[in-house]
Amino acid sequence: MMDQQGKVNRRAVVLGVGMAAAAATAGFALRAGAGEPIRLRSRQTSYSFEGMQTHGLYSLQDAAPPPVLRMRQGVPVEIEVTNGVDEHTTMHWHGIRLPNAMDGVPYLTQFPIAPGERFRYAFTPPDAGTYWYHPHCMTMRQMAYGLTGLLIVEEQDDPGFDADIPLNLKDFRLDAAGRLLPYFTPRGAARGGTFGNLQTTNWQLNPRYDLPAGSLVRLRIAATDNTRVYRLMLPDIAGRVIAWDGHPLRDAIALPTAADPLWLSPGQRVDIAVQMPDTEGREVTLAAVLGPTPKPLATLRAIGPSQGRDLAEIAPLPRNPVSEPDLSTAERRSLVFGWSPDGAGQNNGFCGNSAYTFWSIDRQPWPGDAVSGTGAVATLSLGKTYIFKLQNESPNNHPIHLHGLALLPLRSNKRTLRQNWTDTILLMKGETVEVAFKADNPGDWAFHCHVIEHQKTGLAGYIHIG
Ligand code: C2O
Ligand code: CU
Ligand code: CU
Repeated sequence: MMDQQGKVNRRAVVLGVGMAAAAATAGFALRAGAGEPIRLRSRQTSYSFEGMQTHGLYSLQDAAPPPVLRMRQGVPVEIEVTNGVDEHTTMHWHGIRLPNAMDGVPYLTQFPIAPGERFRYAFTPPDAGTYWYHPHCMTMRQMAYGLTGLLIVEEQDDPGFDADIPLNLKDFRLDAAGRLLPYFTPRGAARGGTFGNLQTTNWQLNPRYDLPAGSLVRLRIAATDNTRVYRLMLPDIAGRVIAWDGHPLRDAIALPTAADPLWLSPGQRVDIAVQMPDTEGREVTLAAVLGPTPKPLATLRAIGPSQGRDLAEIAPLPRNPVSEPDLSTAERRSLVFGWSPDGAGQNNGFCGNSAYTFWSIDRQPWPGDAVSGTGAVATLSLGKTYIFKLQNESPNNHPIHLHGLALLPLRSNKRTLRQNWTDTILLMKGETVEVAFKADNPGDWAFHCHVIEHQKTGLAGYIHIG
């Protein structure tokens, strides 16, 4: 069910075994095939989280989360998105360095897709790795109610894992009867955001994946919640962090523990290679530090005789073709993220107006996607290297995301930054960070906080490269 291609036979076997043992599968996947587009249709649906029926969720399948999309590095793909709900939408391919017109940002790169209409996205993913997708119009509601999915770009050569498990971390906000609660509160939007109360992984509560003992598993963990910064731990395992925000590591990241959890903020991804325990029945648990006791998010259970594989068999992933910034010629810019100086709302046209403004970039709150004539927060020359100083003068965390490019973190006034390519960098309260990048992808690139309530109440803008 997971895949049709020969390469993943081992994976199919692994999942087949898992299903026999009534464990969870990592979700339905759609693979880009020669000539045929991937066809997606948004819809509202009902779904049962542990027995409670929740109505009004958004997905691309009935009674199931949005599928995992799989494609291959360097192979062109077409994705046709049909809007099956009664409000406008777009789809954005988070982290993919694609042509600007395919980026899915309403009014900036395309007109919103009206109810019943469709838009065909076409691009060639230049980088392998773990990415994701979500609407960029009516974003807050459509994402809060479920419309987020993983997008996996496979390496040209199979790195040799026995299984590949996408883990889409997302909270839902429900009442005791399973009904959806408001995803926006002015109080939340003006502070850290409005948090969900049900932590899910692939829309399940601590799903268990049965995997052969002693096998090598690639976990692809994505934080797709509107608000929550997950503090992850994966203790007592043989494993290695191998990629961050899609890209192979340049700078090592330690396996996260309870004492030293890994912060994964909205928009970010981490790939971890795990060597399953050799003993049948042993479990490995991914958990979040959340309240007094860690909250299990997903469990891997070793089954069958040991496959006897070793992490050392996995070579480092091949690097992606991201241009190195030329720091010697870099031009410097700085941007301040903070409170909004005015309280007017935003005009997002068909994409969800907001009555509130709380946030700003360089004291300018984003007036809304549909306001014409709004200038870029920075205008850059194609091919030049820039160092951006990003200063958070607010007491809240902001995962700052740039579309269409990859950023290299350089330094912070608060901590040692790991120099791994990123598209979403977490600015902690009071933190100033410098990032470098080569402006090699022309267009208007959305630049915003990925706490969606912050984005939609002013903390947004775009960068022009031309
Ligand atoms: Cu993941 Cu502009 O978004
Ligand atoms: Cu994005
Ligand atoms: Cu923010």
